[in-house]
Amino acid sequence: KVYRASTTAPVNIAVVKYWGKRDPKLNLPTNSSLSVTLSQADLRTLTTASCSAAYPAPEGDSLLLNGEPSDVSGARTQACFRELRARRAALEAADPSLPKLSTMPLRLVSENNFPTAAGLASSAAGFAAFVRAIANLYELPASPSELSLIARQGSGSACRSLFGGYVAWRMGSAPDGSDSRADQVAPASHWPEMRALILVASAAKKGVSSTSGMQQTVATSGLFRERITTVVPENMDKMEKAIAARDFAAFAEVTMRDSNSFHATCADTYPPIFYMNDVSRAAIRAVEAVNAAAGRTVAAYTFDAGPNAVIYYLEQDTAAVVGTFYHLLGGLDGWKADSLKGAQSAVALDEAVAGLLQNGVSRIIMTGVGEGPIKTDEY
Ligand code: DP6
Repeated sequence: KVYRASTTAPVNIAVVKYWGKRDPKLNLPTNSSLSVTLSQADLRTLTTASCSAAYPAPEGDSLLLNGEPSDVSGARTQACFRELRARRAALEAADPSLPKLSTMPLRLVSENNFPTAAGLASSAAGFAAFVRAIANLYELPASPSELSLIARQGSGSACRSLFGGYVAWRMGSAPDGSDSRADQVAPASHWPEMRALILVASAAKKGVSSTSGMQQTVATSGLFRERITTVVPENMDKMEKAIAARDFAAFAEVTMRDSNSFHATCADTYPPIFYMNDVSRAAIRAVEAVNAAAGRTVAAYTFDAGPNAVIYYLEQDTAAVVGTFYHLLGGLDGWKADSLKGAQSAVALDEAVAGLLQNGVSRIIMTGVGEGPIKTDEY
C-alpha cells in the first residue's frame, strides 16, 4: 500500500525583509519580517508526498524537483524530515491502530508552475509545500503556525508561505526557536486589491546566496546593527498599521524604505554585496516617475537577493502603474489583457531609464495577493 497526499504552496515577497541569522543552526533570524503572499494561479509549488513499507529502504527518503533528483542529505532538509517524523511517531505511539508511516521511506515529487531560471524566491514555496505535504500525509493536527516552525528550519522565508494574505514572521526570543514562527496579519480578503508586477531582470543564477550573504552582513556591517535595533522594529509597526488601515501610501513608503535599508546593509557588508543592478535602479526611477506623474504614491518597489523588481500597486491604479511599463515592454509575455483594459496611459520616462528597462527586462509576471497552501488530489 502506498499512502499519498498533495498540496500547493505560494511564493511570498517580503515588504519588511528578513536578513540575518542569530542562530544559523536553528535558522533563527535577527529581526522580524512581513510579506505578501502571491497568487498561486501565477506562482506556486505543487508537492506530492508518499510513503510505503514497500519502498526499498536502502533508497531512503527522496525528492524529485521539476523532474530532477534533488539532494535531501542537507542539514535543513533533514531537520524538516526529523521534525515531521517525530510528530507522526507521537501520534502512532498514542494510537497503536494507526499505520506506522513514520518508519517508511518518504518520496516527494515537487513542481513549480514558473521557471526556476526566473530567479524568483522558489525556496520559500518549495519548503512550505514540502512541510505541508508531509503533514497532510501524516495527518498531523498541526496548525499552520506550528508547521511554520518546521518550514523555517528549511528556509527562513518559507515559514511565511504557510499562510495567505499578509504574513508576519515573529523573530521570537526563545533559544530553542519555539516562538520564532509566522502568523497571519490579515487575510487576502482584507485587502484583495493588492497587485504585484514583477520585472524579471535576470535569468542568471544569483551571485551570492541569501544564506551566505546574510552571514557576511551580520559579521561585517556596522549599519546592520542600526537596521535590526531601530529600522526594522519601526517598519514592522508602521507596516502592520498600514495594512490594518489599508493605507497604500504608508504601505508603499515602508516597503521602499525597507528594501533600500536592506540593500544599504548589503553595500555596507565588507566586501560589499550587490544584488541590484542598473536595470533594478532603472525600475526604481520608473516607479518614482509614475508616482510623481500621479501626484500621489501609486506604486512601491522592492528587491530581494537579486535584481528582479517587484512592484506593488492597487488594482484601481492599474492604468497609472502598469500602463507605463506596458507601453515600454508590451512585447514581453505575461501581460494579462483583461486587467489591462484602460491601461494605455503612459508616463514619459527618461531615455536612459527606458533603454535599460527595454534591454534588461526579459519577462514580466502580473499577479496579486493570494491564498495559502491548498490541499489537492492532483498527483
Ligand atoms: C532577501 O529565506 O532564502 O528574500 O533562511 O538562509 O534559506 P535562508 O534564507 P532565505 O532569505 C530570504 C531573504 C530575502 C528577504 C525575505 O524574504 O524576507
